[in-house]
Amino acid sequence: MSTINYSEKIPNNVNLGEDRTLQRALEGWQPNFIHWWDDVGPDGSTNYDVYLRTAVSVDPQGWAQFGHVKMRDYRWGIFLNPGDANREVHFGDHKGEKAWQDVPGEHRANLRRIIVTQGDTEPASVEQQRHLGLTAPSMYDMRNLFQINVEEGRHLWAMVYLLHKHFGRDGREEAEALLQRQSGDQDNPRILGAFNEKTPDWLAFFMFTYFTDRDGKFQLSALAESAFDPLARTTKFMLTEEAHHMFVGESGVSRVLSRTAAVMNELKTDDPQKVRAAGAIDLGTIQRYLNFHYSVTIDLFGADQSSNAATFYSSGLKGRYEEGKRTDDHILKGQTYKVLEVKDGQLLEKDVPMLNALNEVLRDDFIKDSVAGVGRWNKVLEKAGIPTRLVVPHKAFNRQIGALAGIKMSPEGRVVNEQEWAAKKSEWLPTPEDFAFVASLMGRVVEPGKFAGWIAPPVMGINRQPVDFEYIRFG
Ligand SMILES: [Fe+2]
Ligand SMILES: [Fe+2]
Repeated sequence: MSTINYSEKIPNNVNLGEDRTLQRALEGWQPNFIHWWDDVGPDGSTNYDVYLRTAVSVDPQGWAQFGHVKMRDYRWGIFLNPGDANREVHFGDHKGEKAWQDVPGEHRANLRRIIVTQGDTEPASVEQQRHLGLTAPSMYDMRNLFQINVEEGRHLWAMVYLLHKHFGRDGREEAEALLQRQSGDQDNPRILGAFNEKTPDWLAFFMFTYFTDRDGKFQLSALAESAFDPLARTTKFMLTEEAHHMFVGESGVSRVLSRTAAVMNELKTDDPQKVRAAGAIDLGTIQRYLNFHYSVTIDLFGADQSSNAATFYSSGLKGRYEEGKRTDDHILKGQTYKVLEVKDGQLLEKDVPMLNALNEVLRDDFIKDSVAGVGRWNKVLEKAGIPTRLVVPHKAFNRQIGALAGIKMSPEGRVVNEQEWAAKKSEWLPTPEDFAFVASLMGRVVEPGKFAGWIAPPVMGINRQPVDFEYIRFG
């Protein structure tokens, strides 16, 4: 069951061949997907042979297959983690009942909405990153970008499979719409804010894959608990791919810091202008990028209080992060959780029903996880003897969604007035000058083993290949 059938047009481990109608429907969607890839996928990459890994099964060993392939020939398909016939719903009002193999009518609209919202983020990030191949700091980095792009494409396939299989005609319409919305489009944008932002340069890309792909990890983890078993199984497999995306972000920022620290030590300076003049990215700019990507990403978890969040949990559609490891009753009625609110211009904590605060619970889990990696970035600075540290801004900084959207806050968590915000904004968030400076460093480096001057080489290559391996053949 877990071995993937590659002899079919659509690789899969779900016995797709036994369901002719579904197979035909998906084969009808496939050319539209390729069309989308050609249109808004990685710019100018059609003839490249890229050293990619392709899953051959959903077991941990199934990842071992690496080889040079053209991206549009990547074996996108449908892979679900193995099922457990005895699986039970383990949270919410249906706790203890058998997990669902089909969508219960009363939860159909909500489930479809959850799947469409998740599915929409996958092609969005490919669109956001489509120009980055033109300015990759090395062949190694370009390959990592493309690996992420093809996997986000597969994540789209994962959601489209569920829509086609379980949601009939409106599912098929939603699957089409996933290829029609476009990141940043005025008339038909992607559903969530962060997925309409630009990813203009590689520092933004590393911050995006560190923070925003981590949002993916937490959303997928919550869906991996779902009572709707096909959703749980497909998101579990997606999570194995997500880990690589976050690795690219974490190691990418580490390498930028390592290069910056080396320049600071060489020049014995912490003057941002001197660091910039030497072709490295000053720590202030890195901090401002961090502030931006962090605040935009935590908005993705939604409003701090949400009746939808309560409904999704109680009806078993979406659990908490690591639901199974928690020791409470998994029903949460009568329990409370602390959220922040703004009163008379000040931030206050208040207790609200936990069921309504589950977006905030997931956001707080995300925050804990992302702070840990920032600590590892600071180790790079510490080792180099640089006293500056990166910090994540206060949860209420630069928020656009939820109760905190109505407040201006410094990164350290001080409420500020409009005047101070206007005066200090350029210290807290990337400025047009920052973007222009980072853009000025972006130039394509394609010789194997060579790296742009603003980033250190990685410690290791991919799949135990040397760092100067020919990861891409340009053709
Ligand atoms: Fe994804
Ligand atoms: Fe991802």
